[in-house]
Amino acid sequence: MKEQLEKIRQAAAHALDAVETGEALEAVRVRFLGKKGELTAVLRGMGALTPEERPVIGQLANEARTYIEGKIEEKKAAVAAKKREAKLANEVIDVTVPGRRKPVGRLHPLHQVLNEITDIFTGMGFSVAEGPDIETDYYNFEALNIPSDHPARDTQDTFYINDNIILRTQTSPVQIRVMEHTKPPIRMIAPGRVFRSDAVDATHSPVFHQIEGLVIDKGITMADLKGTLEAVVKGLYGPDAKIRLRPHHFPFTEPSAEVDVSCFACGGKGCGMCKGEGWIEILGAGMVHPKVLKVGGIDPEVYSGFAFGLGLERIAMFKYGIDDLRLFFENDLRFLRQF
Ligand code: PHE
Repeated sequence: MKEQLEKIRQAAAHALDAVETGEALEAVRVRFLGKKGELTAVLRGMGALTPEERPVIGQLANEARTYIEGKIEEKKAAVAAKKREAKLANEVIDVTVPGRRKPVGRLHPLHQVLNEITDIFTGMGFSVAEGPDIETDYYNFEALNIPSDHPARDTQDTFYINDNIILRTQTSPVQIRVMEHTKPPIRMIAPGRVFRSDAVDATHSPVFHQIEGLVIDKGITMADLKGTLEAVVKGLYGPDAKIRLRPHHFPFTEPSAEVDVSCFACGGKGCGMCKGEGWIEILGAGMVHPKVLKVGGIDPEVYSGFAFGLGLERIAMFKYGIDDLRLFFENDLRFLRQF
């Protein structure tokens, strides 16, 4: 029995030497120390020993058990350390590998031009106002002195939601909304979407953008309008840009003008961009009609003002030399990435 115990001890030591994993280790433990294990089997056989032999063999068996248990603990620690090492080796991060760049978006070209124009106006003390895209007939037409038989009301131009509610065809209704709740002096711009029932082509879209402007104070004249627009155009197109006012008619301004800017491509000589004109129309403007001031709750005997409405797409097209309006709305990344 003594020899048997010694053999088991050696066999266990040998088996443990080969162990590499936690599972293999557990198998060895079961093989030697488990209920049906080899050492357990020997201990069971102790009943057949004489009373003198029993304590001697018992002690040897206990020693063998302690020895094997100790070995197993040692091995367990070694296996765990090895596992940890392998895991760490796997997790090594090479901090010198170049990072992957995340694609960064950018502002739409219309938004860039809008920001530029907004900066110019806020720099001159203007605030920025907003009005609803869905308007009432009153704000879009009636309050702006557009009588019910005016051609601008033609269903050709206007999207009607019902008899009274429409998609605004211009940003001018914001003039009325601002006058209603602001005491002069007023200096504001109101950028936004406008809608007209036009077929899509290179220069027309049923949705486009305008920037409305309104200045009201005591003693405002046409000279203030011209000076303001001149400053804006120079800010946008450079110090050599000039403007020209042509007589026009809008129901809500009197007198009214259309405003041209000298062609930035040829400087006024005439080229393909300006169709040989040397000038490009960019906005409508005029002195706010006394009737409109009254509707807005402002006394035309005390105050006067000017207003203008500029087309954002047109300005962006001439600024960047874009010849087709549709490009702004198609969202082709090859186009958008150029700005
Ligand atoms: N609302 C006019 C248009 O859409 C432009 C305009 C605005 C003209 C303000 C005069 C004053 O054509």
